[in-house]
Amino acid sequence: MDGTPAVPEPAPAGEMSGLPRRSVAFIGSECYPFVKTGGLGDVMYALPRALVRLNCDVRVILPRYACIPKEYQDKIIYRGEFYMDLGRTGRNYYVGIMEYIQDGVVYDFIDNQEFFSAGNPYISLVDDIPKYCFFSKAALSALNFMGWIPDIVHCHDWQAALVPVYLRTLFQNTPVGRARSILTIHNLRFQGIYNIPTIRYWSGLPDSVFNMGALKQGYEDANMLKGGLAYADRITTVSGTYAQEIQTPEYGEHLDKHLRYHSSKLRGIVNGIDTAMWNPETDPALAVNYGLSNVLEHKMENKLALQKELGLEEDESKFVIGLISRLTNQKGLDLVNAIVPQVLDGNTQIVVLGTGDKQYEDAFRYDEYAFHGSFSACIQYDESRAHRIYAGADALLVPSRFEPCGLTQLNAMHYGTLPIVRETGGLKDTVEPYNTFTGDGNGFTFDRYDAGLLLDAINRAKTEYFMNRYHWDEVVQRDMAKDVSWENSARQYKDLYLELTQW
Ligand code: ADP
Ligand code: GLC
Repeated sequence: MDGTPAVPEPAPAGEMSGLPRRSVAFIGSECYPFVKTGGLGDVMYALPRALVRLNCDVRVILPRYACIPKEYQDKIIYRGEFYMDLGRTGRNYYVGIMEYIQDGVVYDFIDNQEFFSAGNPYISLVDDIPKYCFFSKAALSALNFMGWIPDIVHCHDWQAALVPVYLRTLFQNTPVGRARSILTIHNLRFQGIYNIPTIRYWSGLPDSVFNMGALKQGYEDANMLKGGLAYADRITTVSGTYAQEIQTPEYGEHLDKHLRYHSSKLRGIVNGIDTAMWNPETDPALAVNYGLSNVLEHKMENKLALQKELGLEEDESKFVIGLISRLTNQKGLDLVNAIVPQVLDGNTQIVVLGTGDKQYEDAFRYDEYAFHGSFSACIQYDESRAHRIYAGADALLVPSRFEPCGLTQLNAMHYGTLPIVRETGGLKDTVEPYNTFTGDGNGFTFDRYDAGLLLDAINRAKTEYFMNRYHWDEVVQRDMAKDVSWENSARQYKDLYLELTQW
């Protein structure tokens, strides 16, 4: 081992007093600011920080991908190394541990150039299955190697789903075997499915786990997420509604029966956002900073700056609708495509920021060409532009087919931008529909997956914006004041940790 063991900085004493201490290892495939492709990266960043404030000792274990920006690669320090056998490969693999500490959270990066040298965390299952078998096993081995045995191992999505299985098999009689495990589903669509011989080869798990109650699926496949769900002590997902939905055939992605079987250990805890990172008062990306007291004037300035940045007609009276999303089948983009001409009525502009499937990228590029000056298609991943869209748009669209939680509607509300969402998953739990008669609510919603209903919701939003601005502005302020922080939800995770470790 190299140097002195890293000790997390304690959180301010006042906040901690009286709270029982627990140690937690977060294991997952992405974490902002090192690597992020979607909301999982945000949660892996924000939740550990919130847990530190609740007297948790948190280590986040991540792959050391080559694509982590140089700025951080230069800061992470060597902590140690060892060799580990892997599955039935007959080889010993190098496992380096590189460490970085920030705001009381310790980040341990698992280093191995053979697995983590691609320019992107996810490539194809052929590469990803061996990579995440290695990662899951190396993460537990690293905890044993460092002699840091957590009370709880908190795993995220299929990439870390073998961890609970390893914990109760190959690692049961090792020090880390005493930890309890939680598996959080951020997106049930991705499960890590491959034929049994391949997963058996790379994982080295005993034959006993390849049965229908655990990893086996159908006649010849193994499903890593399914195995993790069977072995984890608790399962969580990122909203209460999604926890219910995934137990139905419509949203269950073929695991609804398995989830119903394990429903007694399944719980929904809604995500929050990191309100230090997402703070319009201090956000360095914005043209003009603003808060609750001056949002109404300054939002207009941000709108004009955004229009200028994107080459849209600069006119603060236009209704600007943003969409910030991975461009995939999950996100309801075919509904958006179907109604663009009807939405662009001369008083409205649309801004799309996203990358993903070519069909959507091309469709939005075409809209930009066809509706020059009213439609902007930013086919890119750009963190700071995302912040400026949250600040400069009037409304943000999230018409998803399914949405485990969704963070963009939370960011939007916190920036005084009204969400227009489909009533599914976390969107349903976080956006209360606006009620024209009472003036209550946070945004505009529709239920069935239908382009006409989306158009209707957008039109209702426009009516309020153009005809009833006083009420619209009230909702802007209500949304900014709404508590979308992690505090409440982090407490629920802490309670779950305590429930699992009653001593
Ligand atoms: P998902 O995890 O399904 O992608 P979420 O709503 O939970 O959806 O999280 C998406 C996160 O990624 C948000 O922080 C959002 O701002 C960000 N994001 C998505 N697309 C882009 C993009 N093209 N550029 C910058 N940020 C993006
Ligand atoms: C997933 C989901 C998204 C959720 C995010 C973080 O990627 O698609 O709804 O907000 O994970 O939990």
